[in-house]
Amino acid sequence: MRGIRISGWGIAVPDKVVTNDDMALNLDTSDAWIVERTGIRERHIGGTTSGLAIEAGQAALDCAGRTAAEIDHLVLATTTPDGIVPGTAPSVQHALGIKGGAFDINAACSGFVYGLVTAAGLIAAGSGPIMLIGSETLSNITDMNDRAIAIIVGDGAGAVIIEPVDGAGGLLSWNLNSDGSLRHLLKCEHGGTLFMDGKEVFRKAVRVVVESAERAMADAGLGPDDISLLVPHQANLRIIQAACQRLGIPEERTAVVIDRYGNTSSASIPLALHDAIVGGRVHDGDHLLLTGFGGGMTWASAVLRWGG
Ligand code: UT7
Repeated sequence: MRGIRISGWGIAVPDKVVTNDDMALNLDTSDAWIVERTGIRERHIGGTTSGLAIEAGQAALDCAGRTAAEIDHLVLATTTPDGIVPGTAPSVQHALGIKGGAFDINAACSGFVYGLVTAAGLIAAGSGPIMLIGSETLSNITDMNDRAIAIIVGDGAGAVIIEPVDGAGGLLSWNLNSDGSLRHLLKCEHGGTLFMDGKEVFRKAVRVVVESAERAMADAGLGPDDISLLVPHQANLRIIQAACQRLGIPEERTAVVIDRYGNTSSASIPLALHDAIVGGRVHDGDHLLLTGFGGGMTWASAVLRWGG
């Protein structure tokens, strides 16, 4: 039996910081409205999905003390690929010098958890170390003149190195879910811009996050008191707060970076995870509950035991 552990982490965000006051210069909005309704104070805008992924991936390699040649496969979660064909992962693989297969996963904001489970499956099937990245340039598919969506999006990337370990490893439980009948709630056609029925996505998100997170805890044989850190997708602070309350996990045990990065889709969970790790909030033996939701709709949760 082969399981996984995470041995390295890194992030990348564009240099350009756009504050809520900057947004209010062009849009009929205000810092007070954005902070109250979303928890966002600023976001980074710019770069390319591959460029951010390369930077985050290299940082994760350096952190793990690994060279690219030691990585077997690259899994890249993104909703904003550089192009339609080829995938963005091969560009990242080539730039970093990783040897094996490289492919994109598009599961919208659940992409990082989908990627984690995919990486664990590859490792169970015999793969060596895997690089998993969530990278997004949502600003490229957003109408920055539409205040309903422009204020929530941000660009960035987060990467981890996932190593094989003998035995069950750290992925204690997981579930991946989707419901394509809800695809109209959050979508972007070829050449178009993002559309989101914010209110309806909000309502559904709280329900599905709680249901899938509770299932992941039960499958791991854990309750809310056993979770050291909740690492949720960063879509809206009010969604995170509502989920915490319903799950019985205090907000103090939650990784929140939405104030600095906005909603970065599949990059948001690794950005939040990285912030918690470098902030000294993650220790060997801790149980981390990762949970994401987004367009599709897709939603997914996983429980990780850290270290080992
Ligand atoms: O990442 C994957 C999934 N995405 C999400 O989970 C996002 C979920 N949805 C949301 O986060 C929220 O629905 C939004 C932040 C997008 C919107 O917040 P809301 O509290 O649902 O606002 P709303 O759309 O119901 O609008 C309330 C009012 C409206 O005015 P009236 O009709 O009450 O006069 C809007 O026109 O706020 C107005 N409004 C704004 N005002 C200032 C909408 N956007 C803005 C804005 N600034 N940017």
